[in-house]
Amino acid sequence: MNEFERLLDNNKEWAAKQVETDPDFFKRLEGLQSPEFLWIGCSDSRVPADQITNTKPGEIFVHRNVANLVVNGDINLLSVLQYSVEVLKVKHIIVVGHYGCGGIQAAMTNQSFGVLNNWLRNIKDVYRLHQAEVDALPTVEEKNNRMTELNVHEQVMNLAKTGIIQSAWKKEQRPFLHGWVYSLRNGILKSILEMPPNTPVNPIYKFEI
Ligand code: CO
Repeated sequence: MNEFERLLDNNKEWAAKQVETDPDFFKRLEGLQSPEFLWIGCSDSRVPADQITNTKPGEIFVHRNVANLVVNGDINLLSVLQYSVEVLKVKHIIVVGHYGCGGIQAAMTNQSFGVLNNWLRNIKDVYRLHQAEVDALPTVEEKNNRMTELNVHEQVMNLAKTGIIQSAWKKEQRPFLHGWVYSLRNGILKSILEMPPNTPVNPIYKFEI
């Protein structure tokens, strides 16, 4: 059997099992989705949002890219953000990084990866902001682990810099922003930053909304 056929077979089994345990499962979700969470995670195949949080389809709106970046000019991310905040009205946005991230590791070297260089440049900028702290760590693993945390921190800050978030904070006192890091070693998510609505940001980023 081809590898891709395995996926289609698995899917048939899964769909049948859902109906068996919950006959209205698909009927309910077909009508509407009302997730409370937006997940901005890494594309890494080892960090699947639903599975590691033990949630079901319909519970989390997901955006994933290499190294879970929130880039100001990324129309894809901004579209997901606007839709989830203004239409789905999510209550929480969670940026999730993970230790052992290939994107972080690559950005911390001088290797060239073609177009990926332009994407990873955002991580090098995070490093430049925290260079003294990261350089003081003794091993490459410790440097990369700290960079994973600092990167999540910066990406949460990037969310708070958007008009989309500032406007929702002002009008509806939501969403709550979270920065978490996942460990591939033990499967545990850890919070490194919690930013409630209307947390003050550096005044230069504040819009008169
Ligand atoms: Co990664």
